[in-house]
Amino acid sequence: MSPPANIAILAGTAGEVRPMPVPMPGPPEPGGLLVRMLFAPVNPADLLAIDGRYALTLDPGAPIGAEGIGMVEQAGEGVLDLRPGDLVLPLDRGNWTSWRRLDRARVMPVPPGVAPEQAAMLRINPATAWLLLDMSGAGPGDCIVQNAAHSAVAHWVRSFAAMRDITVIDVGRRGSAPSEIAAFPDDGDLAGAVRAAAASQPIRAALDCVAGSASGRLAACLEEDGVLLVFGHLSGEPASIPSTLLTGRGLTVRGFTLRRVEARMTPTTREAMAAAIAAAVAGGAADLPIQAVLPLAEADRAIALARTPGRGRVLLDLQAISGM
Ligand SMILES: NC(=O)c1ccc[n+]([C@@H]2O[C@H](COP(=O)([O-])OP(=O)(O)OC[C@H]3O[C@@H](n4cnc5c(N)ncnc54)[C@H](OP(=O)(O)O)[C@@H]3O)[C@@H](O)[C@H]2O)c1
Repeated sequence: MSPPANIAILAGTAGEVRPMPVPMPGPPEPGGLLVRMLFAPVNPADLLAIDGRYALTLDPGAPIGAEGIGMVEQAGEGVLDLRPGDLVLPLDRGNWTSWRRLDRARVMPVPPGVAPEQAAMLRINPATAWLLLDMSGAGPGDCIVQNAAHSAVAHWVRSFAAMRDITVIDVGRRGSAPSEIAAFPDDGDLAGAVRAAAASQPIRAALDCVAGSASGRLAACLEEDGVLLVFGHLSGEPASIPSTLLTGRGLTVRGFTLRRVEARMTPTTREAMAAAIAAAVAGGAADLPIQAVLPLAEADRAIALARTPGRGRVLLDLQAISGM
């Protein structure tokens, strides 16, 4: 039998990717793990990284892939809580590759009872939704509004908001299409429609991952002293908000990036978040649509598919590298 091979996918310079044979990582160091990577989703952040439009500067020599799932192949000396066969989520980028050597402290065990394909999508969006709700300041009885209603983040926001007794009003660029989620179309008098739906509940916060003129439309839904949290750039346009709205209602605009906020978390807040994610998963929340699972050897095709509007995430099978 030939020894296992390792391939990494790097970002090219013109919106394409470069598969690169890389050495197999050796056995784990003390406190470390050798991980056989299984699946990775193609997320909007990966598309931005490939296009050179990501908000942070990334190492061009490192594999891309914001999240993924792997199986422990070998545990290093001193790792007592994980063993071969356990599923883990690397906390750091670089997941579009077949093998990784990681510190135990830089992986999360997968909550029980979830399929690996669904678990591959648990590292980023649930934590983003949880922390956006924290930052929103909304509490029981409050109402928030979010755009990109059919996105994975929006799904997790609805799950965690229900656990916190917060009402969520959804907005989608195509209204309720393409899924069954009830959402207002992002046009016309959006603020009038949203405020009417909220009735007497104050709209304390708006979660915006579209930016461009959508930011202004979402901000107009807020009550006095409300907060607009901008965490994405799906429109590709700078956020545009009428200044009279900002001054007249005393609104606050804040930017959010998961990794910056996570870096400031305490062990207690991390544990609370992990417990909430595990509880949501146990309640069946990890059921996002998957459009296709394609071999790592066909990363180009997976990226092209992920760029076309469609229902569900495209995943890469990270062990499928034959023919490369
Ligand atoms: N800041 C952070 O740390 C952080 C962390 C996680 C995610 N994010 C951001 O959160 C956003 C959602 O991520 P996700 O993985 O949940 O997305 P996703 O599941 O891939 O869904 C994307 C959704 O956005 C909608 N959309 C795409 N382009 C749009 C546009 N120009 N105007 C309005 N809607 C548009 C799509 O609408 P249709 O259904 O109509 O096609 C789709 O429902 C992304 O911008 C991502 O980068 C940020």
